[in-house]
Amino acid sequence: MCGIVGYVGKEPALPRLISGLKKLEYRGYDSAGLAVFDDKELCVIKQAGSVNGLETTTQKLCRPNITAGIAHTRWATHGEPNETNAHPHRGCGNGQACKIQIALVHNGTLDNFETLKSLVLKRGHVLRSETDTELLVHLIAEVYKDDPVLALRTALQQVQGTFGLAVLMAGFSDRIFFARNGAPLALGLSLKGNFIASDPLAFRFYTDRMVNLEDGNLGWISGSDYQVVNMNADKVENEVETIPWSLETAEKGEHDHFMSKEIKEQPQVLTQALRGRLLDDGTVKLGGLDSHQELLRMMQNHVFVGAGTSLNAGMISKIFFQELAELSADWESASELANQKRPIFPVQTAFWAISQSGETKDLLDALKTLKQQDLPCFGIVNKVGSEIARLTGKGVYIHAGMEIAVASTKAFTNQLVTLFLIAMYLRQIRGLPKINWHDRLLADLRKLPLLVTEVLNRENEIIDAAKRYAGYPNFLYLGRGVNYPVALEGALKLKEIAYVNAIGYSAGEMKHGPIALIDGGFPTLVIAPKQDDYYSQITTNIQQIRSRRGRIIAVATDGDDEIKNCVDDVIWIPQIDYYLTPILAVVPLQLFAYHIARLRGLNPDKPRNLAKSVTVK
Ligand code: G6P
Repeated sequence: MCGIVGYVGKEPALPRLISGLKKLEYRGYDSAGLAVFDDKELCVIKQAGSVNGLETTTQKLCRPNITAGIAHTRWATHGEPNETNAHPHRGCGNGQACKIQIALVHNGTLDNFETLKSLVLKRGHVLRSETDTELLVHLIAEVYKDDPVLALRTALQQVQGTFGLAVLMAGFSDRIFFARNGAPLALGLSLKGNFIASDPLAFRFYTDRMVNLEDGNLGWISGSDYQVVNMNADKVENEVETIPWSLETAEKGEHDHFMSKEIKEQPQVLTQALRGRLLDDGTVKLGGLDSHQELLRMMQNHVFVGAGTSLNAGMISKIFFQELAELSADWESASELANQKRPIFPVQTAFWAISQSGETKDLLDALKTLKQQDLPCFGIVNKVGSEIARLTGKGVYIHAGMEIAVASTKAFTNQLVTLFLIAMYLRQIRGLPKINWHDRLLADLRKLPLLVTEVLNRENEIIDAAKRYAGYPNFLYLGRGVNYPVALEGALKLKEIAYVNAIGYSAGEMKHGPIALIDGGFPTLVIAPKQDDYYSQITTNIQQIRSRRGRIIAVATDGDDEIKNCVDDVIWIPQIDYYLTPILAVVPLQLFAYHIARLRGLNPDKPRNLAKSVTVK
């Protein structure tokens, strides 16, 4: 959450800071700001609203030849998104409590915010904003003597919480100082200057050489050098890596929005997730699990942990593991698990941490709780080298490529196909006989990318449906079995990007409450593929809604005339095995939400109040 970028070097800093912020805006976009050295004077410009607004203001106020600065795009945690609370923050400047002028940007949150606040107020500091971040400035400026890195080290020892920091200090106009604990930061190295950013995406246009910082690292960059130390002041030599992806993967190309681009990339990224893993002879090969086979064979119980869309993928995977791998399985919401006082699980339980970003704080906290108990945790992650990938240390990447739109789409379908493969793999390494319809199932799995393309080719039908329903303020989404979490996911998409109240429910539970909501103005979207084991039960639910004059849209299998005659609208999907229906059924739901958002005049890529990577509690 929130984005940080800083540059110091020989070239103009402002275009680098602004283009970096634009790349990071998906992480938070309620206010933005920057601090630069203008003729060695520390200047801060910040405002509520988007980076475009900040760009216009800086063009008016700043000289173009500035060569050092830090910038931030914010997702508010402490204090509303206004100019005062926007980053960078500065000290009180009375020359006493604060010993040096500082401008600082921060990602993360301080857990001991209240204690630190009363501490700095007692010591005579004057606070301007409601943020936790501003406290860091006062703490650092108060202990400063003559060494900025020592001041950072001393001050940060009092801080509990997470931070990725970039700091400018008066008198050091050719340096940016930094510190990291629990919020990602990377250095970008180039011959014309060095960068610091919360995501290398911010500087990828200028360089592909980077250094990933670890928790407890702090130091500085200048235009031609950098230094990293740990909290004991020992020098740290982090590896210089080459960024493995090009910037085009993070561009919209011919698409109106990243969300549309990412929905349409699904056939291609599904192919990527299957490549080299589903072999011609029908066996599954998963390099990330091969060296853990012995451990996995012992695990009788499996728990999926995640948040948002990733949790919905976990709910479906529970059924994959139970019904395809014959294992006991369950799921846990990361935020609930992280807060459980004494989570107790049966012996031989393995945990599968599912996360697109690999950064979600709730999931990281849950994993820390599990790791304290020495429980085996595997990562199902998209972002290579991310916190969760590193913390779990074992698992399977989903290979969905960079996902930028806030609402997750291609990561969801790739999580599903990956977890499906893992279920088959576990069956295989435990020596169970092949399931009866093994060959047919795998043939369908191979066809998936093609069938998703078929669904995408029907976008115009989905646009027509979206037009008919864009005016409704409430929706009920229903499904059963593997498609119950798809109902949750479809409803989540509509809430997230179209701000329409959508309730996802198990179709069987409908009669225990939600049916009271049904009338002519409250449509229901039912996921009812013909090959669903629950098809006849779902059609009964459809009749129950019809008798209450509820409008119904069904996601149904090509050629299902029975359903066509008892609903108002049908979104057709091709025939596929029951266990793979979620991957086909969710695609029209993604498109439906996307087009309703557009018809309502909203930007689906930047829904209000949300952020892509939720790195706070
Ligand atoms: C946020 C995003 C969701 C995402 C969830 C979990 O809420 O807006 O799209 O599903 O975080 O994120 P993760 O990166 O852990 O999958």
